[in-house]
Amino acid sequence: MSVLDEINKRRTFGIISHPDAGKTTLTEKLLLFGGAIQVAGAVKSNKIKRSATSDFMEIEKQRGISVATSVMAFDYRGKKINILDTPGHQDFAEDTFRTLTAVDSVIVVIDVAKGVETQTEKLVKVCRMRNTPIIVFINKLDREGKDGFDLLDDLEQKLGLKVCPLSWPIGMGQRFQGVYNMYEKNLNLFRPHSKQATSDEVMSIADLSDPALETNVGEKAAAELREDVETVTGIYPAFDKEKYLSGEVSPVFFGSAINNFGVKELLDCFVEIAPGPLPRVTEERKVEPLEDKFSGFIFKIHANIDPKHRDRIAFLRICSGVFRRNTNYLHVRQARKMKFANPTSFMAAKKSIVEEAYPGDIVGLYDSGNFKIGDSLTEGEQLHFIGIPSFSPEQFRYVNNADPLKAKQLAKGLVQLMDEGVAQLFTKEMNGRKIIGTVGALQFEVIQYRLKHEYGASCNYEPVSLHKACWLDGAEADIKSFRDRRKKDIAVDKDGKIVFLAESAWALNMAQENHPDVAIHFKSEF
Ligand code: G4P
Repeated sequence: MSVLDEINKRRTFGIISHPDAGKTTLTEKLLLFGGAIQVAGAVKSNKIKRSATSDFMEIEKQRGISVATSVMAFDYRGKKINILDTPGHQDFAEDTFRTLTAVDSVIVVIDVAKGVETQTEKLVKVCRMRNTPIIVFINKLDREGKDGFDLLDDLEQKLGLKVCPLSWPIGMGQRFQGVYNMYEKNLNLFRPHSKQATSDEVMSIADLSDPALETNVGEKAAAELREDVETVTGIYPAFDKEKYLSGEVSPVFFGSAINNFGVKELLDCFVEIAPGPLPRVTEERKVEPLEDKFSGFIFKIHANIDPKHRDRIAFLRICSGVFRRNTNYLHVRQARKMKFANPTSFMAAKKSIVEEAYPGDIVGLYDSGNFKIGDSLTEGEQLHFIGIPSFSPEQFRYVNNADPLKAKQLAKGLVQLMDEGVAQLFTKEMNGRKIIGTVGALQFEVIQYRLKHEYGASCNYEPVSLHKACWLDGAEADIKSFRDRRKKDIAVDKDGKIVFLAESAWALNMAQENHPDVAIHFKSEF
């Protein structure tokens, strides 16, 4: 198969949702269709339940699971599908943001009863910043939930999506009878817990006035469906693939993942419309998948869960050319050549060594501390991929060394955990004190636990009241005057960038008023 064919086959995407909407269930059903797993229950939920915050064995177990399910690959209808797993727990949202840099499209799962929830809002915002094509799957139609039109309004208002329903439900909960697929013009009747929607359950109804509709769903439901579909076609635009690909319009499907209902329609449509590997932007230029020379970037680093082996796995997204085993590549940041004897692919818990990988593929590279998130590998060109920013953390604490004899171990452990992206470290300019910033409280406990078990270091935390970490942009003289005036609130981040640690929203406003020529950003790339 030619390189072009290989590239055109790849479909790399992520599934995002608020916890409990059904991401794990949907992933599992997709893997069943692809033959990647044989039995339900094979995909372990990567959820760390709130109650598990003090149960660190649970966290360790989850880390094991999340390595195994980082990338789930399978073949379906001539396409090679790579599903990138995203952590379910909202305290790990940064991990998800970074994983989203490595996908070409996403499927958003919404719980029919809950509608759009906070975590979905945050994640979709990140996708929209990059115009990532989005398909929406409204799940749990076997339960009572919100009205279809209200849900579409919710998607438009809260997520800012322009939607285009491609299927429409017939009733819900007890009255749920199935979905009408407006894309393929057929009716799929619901049988609870059916193993798979087989062809005899799907009937072609090209024209909704067909009396077969009454025969199958009854008069009342048939009349309702006709009315709904008429309204839908009146309000929403006809599906336009180009608009979906440019992130302007999102197709919407309805179904019930646990009952394997509506999943095949979703997958069939996905393989038909979802984009193959897309170009990636670097500081220097745009990188096209079809270029001859290999390039890729690290979007995730996973520490080995066995503390006796300090190896980590760095996840590389191939952006252009062909990646080959045992071939010398340039580690751009370190300006040195590296080759990899055991690049690994992950197929739903099965690891195997890859000889070659193509744009869209993800490979795991064993790493003994050489990589940071965002690093690039190339055949020699200086390329720095952008779009992997750090976001302002939500919670901050001073971190102190609790064991004077282990200061070195603490420093090393902190740097490595930050390279992995567990949290962000800011060093105050005035006194060198270190502040850890995280998305949620859970990471503070994870850091303390991992420092102890993997590095033999002890730390304790001290509260610090901060509102936001802000990255500054502007002319050198303006930044200098900002820095001089705000000395006690200035720190540097892991890359040595200047950060303003604003104590409150009020302090932030004041700083902006006093320094109108300095742009204040809540993320490290702008
Ligand atoms: P997540 O990864 O998005 O967090 O969600 P997950 O798939 O784990 O699903 C959350 C809960 O919702 C699970 O129930 C799951 O069985 C249920 N669920 C998923 N899809 C559907 C659906 O189409 N209909 C209904 N009625 N339920 C659905 P649980 O009780 O939390 O877990 P479990 O004991 O079933 O594993």
